[in-house]
Amino acid sequence: MQNSFPNCLSEIIKTSRDIWSKGWAEANAGNISVRLDPEIFQTEVAFEQRSDWIALGMDFPVLAGECFLVSGRGKYLRNIELSPEKNIGVIELDNSGRKYRVLWGYESGGGPTSELLAHLKAHAIRKKVSKGVERAVIHVHSPNLITLTYALDLDTPRISKLLWEMHAECIVMFPEGVEFVLWMLPGSSELADATAKGLQRRRIAVWQFHGVVATGRNLDAAFGLIDVAEKAAENYLKTMAGGGVKNKLTTQQLQAIVKHFNLKPDTSILNMEI
Ligand code: 13P
Ligand code: ZN
Repeated sequence: MQNSFPNCLSEIIKTSRDIWSKGWAEANAGNISVRLDPEIFQTEVAFEQRSDWIALGMDFPVLAGECFLVSGRGKYLRNIELSPEKNIGVIELDNSGRKYRVLWGYESGGGPTSELLAHLKAHAIRKKVSKGVERAVIHVHSPNLITLTYALDLDTPRISKLLWEMHAECIVMFPEGVEFVLWMLPGSSELADATAKGLQRRRIAVWQFHGVVATGRNLDAAFGLIDVAEKAAENYLKTMAGGGVKNKLTTQQLQAIVKHFNLKPDTSILNMEI
């Protein structure tokens, strides 16, 4: 049972350990959420109501009645493996999708991540677009992608083409490109809305001066998107530090990859020269 609670718990532990080892989560940076399969997990664990219903401040009708495993606000991802019940929790949305309550976890106090709105907005849009397949959302502070946003004037086409050109895996992993979201207050409903808008077409969004968000059918898929994008950003920054970009994948080479893997890229970005 792939979406069982114990499986999701061990996947979140492994992913948070990997995120920490990669250097993507200083202090309490980063947060993780997984949409649980209610039919499976309700039968496995005797969850009890641990909190009253709490207003979300935004409506999530698509997620009404859904349950999520969500990392805790202010908690260090690296500590999840030491005590999961203190650093993550399970929340359930009510039948209107306007409130949530805690069913399990957050035992040292607090509650779900301060980026809960961005996570739920991402889940809502990707649940629709993927017809229920996508279940995982990861937000991290991956340093090379963040550095790019300080070094360059970026928008969605520019960052997408740059990453495609600097690492051949990128166009294979995210042929639809990378959404670029201008700086907004962390944890705000504006940031959640802007991210969700981009995630209608794409599965990865870079937040200017802050970090990156990715979605996927599971945590491995979301992690993989970030890993590949982060490597391309690293390739670019190291090449710049090593004397500048003299060579990069050409549009023709990218088109050959598209043909070979039968990809459906955003052609307006592919055919653009930067
Ligand atoms: P949380 O500790 O609330 O998850 O916040 C970390 C973070 O990265 C905010 O953007
Ligand atoms: Zn953050």
